[in-house]
Amino acid sequence: MDAANDTASSCPDRGVPAHVAVIMDGNGRWAESRGLPRVEGHRRGLEALRRTVRAAEDLGIRALTVYSFSSENWRRPAAEVTALLMLLRRFIRGDTVELHARNVRIRVIGDRAGLPEDIIALFEESESLTRNNSGLVFQVAFNYGSRDEIVRAVRRTVQDVAEGRLALDAIDETALSERLDTAGIPDPDLVIRTSGEMRLSNFLLWQAAYAEFVFTPVLWPDFDRRHLEEAVAAYRGRDRRYGGLSAAGGQN
Ligand code: FPP
Repeated sequence: MDAANDTASSCPDRGVPAHVAVIMDGNGRWAESRGLPRVEGHRRGLEALRRTVRAAEDLGIRALTVYSFSSENWRRPAAEVTALLMLLRRFIRGDTVELHARNVRIRVIGDRAGLPEDIIALFEESESLTRNNSGLVFQVAFNYGSRDEIVRAVRRTVQDVAEGRLALDAIDETALSERLDTAGIPDPDLVIRTSGEMRLSNFLLWQAAYAEFVFTPVLWPDFDRRHLEEAVAAYRGRDRRYGGLSAAGGQN
């Protein structure tokens, strides 16, 4: 109930989704279909990401979360992992100042343990610089896996109980939500996945409990403002009931 109520209060059913989460998929196929190295797909994917952040701001979306690197992506060839880390560095280092000037608040979710020190420092600097911004909340999921996030939240919860900061019977959905990486950010209203795949792939499993889903065949490097607008239009046509009855008096 808590999650449903949070989401409902943050977003009128027929309005713009307050929080949009995106699984940016298809970079490799985009490149391979053009005879280009996969890394070129990721480079073009970064451009699509920049366009999407701008479009989200313009549409009045309040939070945007993107899946940039999963905890499983380390299994990719070393050269591709290295290229993704370089792109991440380039993005955070190069774009933070401009995003800050646009009043965007940057947050990074995912497990930081074991990440290169310079990347952790970049995350901390961009978060601290933009902490008080009141515009779009832009969450980058990096080394993120939802099950891992939930396990880490459970560990924090148990530790808080063991150390007397939380009573056992005070453990509820809110208590767990407050210990997730996304604490303080309303749940996503809309999850978009590109490239025609229809899976959640360990992304925001807890938070997406009441989200609407839009799957598009567009490969991520081709994604632009028009595709975001189409996804928002599809969302607006949905009847969100949170387990209750239709606001329009429907039967189901
Ligand atoms: C999925 O496509 C995409 C990724 C694993 C990386 C997403 C990265 C970007 C959009 C570039 C911006 C990067 C950062 C780090 C901010 P895929 O490679 O799985 O595509 P495929 O399924 O066609 O092989």
